Amino acid sequence: MFDKLRAHRESTKDRRIGDLFDGARFDAFSARLDDMLLDFSKTGIDATALGLLLDLARSRGVEARRDAMFAGGKINATEDRAVLHTALRNRSDDPVMVGGQDVMPGVRETLGRMSAFADGIRMGRIAAPSGKPFTDVVNIGIGGSDLGPVMAVLALAPWHDGPRTHFVSNVDGAHIHDVLKGLDPETTLVIVASKTFTTIETMTNAETARRWIESAVGDKAGGHFAALSSAVDRTQAFGIDPTRVFGFEDWVGGRYSVWGPIGLSLMIAVGADNFAAFLAGGHAMDRHFRTAPLERNLPVLLGLVGIWHNNVCGYPTRAVLPYDQRLLRLPAYLQQLDMESNGKRVALDGSTLTEASGPVVWGEPGTNGQHAFYQLIHQGTRVIPCEFLVAANGNEPDLKHQHDLLVANCFAQAEALMIGRPEADNPHRVFPGNRPSTMLLYDRLTPETFGRIVALYEHRVFVEGAIWGINSFDQWGVELGKELASEMLPLVEGGDASAKDGSTAGLLKALRDLRA
Ligand code: F6P
Repeated sequence: MFDKLRAHRESTKDRRIGDLFDGARFDAFSARLDDMLLDFSKTGIDATALGLLLDLARSRGVEARRDAMFAGGKINATEDRAVLHTALRNRSDDPVMVGGQDVMPGVRETLGRMSAFADGIRMGRIAAPSGKPFTDVVNIGIGGSDLGPVMAVLALAPWHDGPRTHFVSNVDGAHIHDVLKGLDPETTLVIVASKTFTTIETMTNAETARRWIESAVGDKAGGHFAALSSAVDRTQAFGIDPTRVFGFEDWVGGRYSVWGPIGLSLMIAVGADNFAAFLAGGHAMDRHFRTAPLERNLPVLLGLVGIWHNNVCGYPTRAVLPYDQRLLRLPAYLQQLDMESNGKRVALDGSTLTEASGPVVWGEPGTNGQHAFYQLIHQGTRVIPCEFLVAANGNEPDLKHQHDLLVANCFAQAEALMIGRPEADNPHRVFPGNRPSTMLLYDRLTPETFGRIVALYEHRVFVEGAIWGINSFDQWGVELGKELASEMLPLVEGGDASAKDGSTAGLLKALRDLRA
């Protein structure tokens, strides 16, 4: 199938995207879920290519694998786990079975405990041991225990009416220092978020936070902590009161965990009802992904556009460009979601892939990016497929003119990329055009819409991974660096570096000289 796609691409590659429009193209190369529209008419995909891409998805068993995921099959084969973050946002009465057991009663029970806790913090019913209400919440976590809540709290800022929310992730002491500097330990709640509760960055920052709280409240520090983890026993060893521990199962991957306990900081910020709306949005996208025909299925189509650009056209990166300032951290979130999931070099059976897998994902919000890196997107030698996102309506109706300017810029950039200005006399002013982009247009960034957007990208990653035949749900590639860092620490602290490679030994010596 890839050969046919590449042959088709070869025979049509001099054609301009703009010339494909025949009056029906926009409708034929876009798809909707309610107000949400995915337009991929500004790509080189024509009817033949789309047919071949859909055949590819079918022949690679995307539908069967999707159904196996929702049915609780152990599709994360290398870790012998089911993949059921979708159960966390299941708003239906349908059971979700894992190993013959319905997991939904447990999911609902944890969600109920989270809601009661979040509500108690927001209303001041659950206060610091001194009796003062919590004014600030610090979430300590990294990767999937950080990026989702960070992104979501920013995205849903108009709904943020709870305590102030802060995030510490980096092991660099500068991070926790700068966050805690402005806070009062007597009114701060620290949430230690770690699926494994062993991650060195998180545990180190959690110890630092505990010392900071203890220095102010002494042995009452325990009343300032909560934990989110699937390793509940370790949270107890850390000394966190079990009533403030929110657990989840191993069938929730770290980068897919914002929908459950890891989303507690979001829930405290925006309240349980808005959190429920976020879940409902994710669930709506799940239903669509499960039931819409492939040719009208947003995650499938977005996945196939990705396959076209990566595997057929050979473009190694894609830019995600939200014209939505509150989606500032979406590109960073997608970097983990996409690159940790699909940055793989072997297929499920261990054989080496013959097709390129996950592309490099990057991006920044517009319009800011226009004044930074768009020069390269328009006139550089490499083609970079762009994925625009924009709301029809802003959340600031009194600033409608600014929103109009935002949308105008977004649409104009997509147009400029496609049409270009190939005829300019001066070569420096030539815009070659014919550069592909997609547009995700939605009514307004609400909690529900935000949930749909995140779930759309999750399932897109799934579709691409299924087509490559890889396991999108493990992350063995992060292990070596972690192991070597533990071995490196004693050398950084002065140990004998003679067994290290020449470069590392040289760096350790230079470090010592600078520290002498
Ligand atoms: O090192 C990568 C990773 O394992 C991610 O997959 C995960 O989201 C992150 O670290 C944090 O892990 P944990 O939640 O267990 O602290």
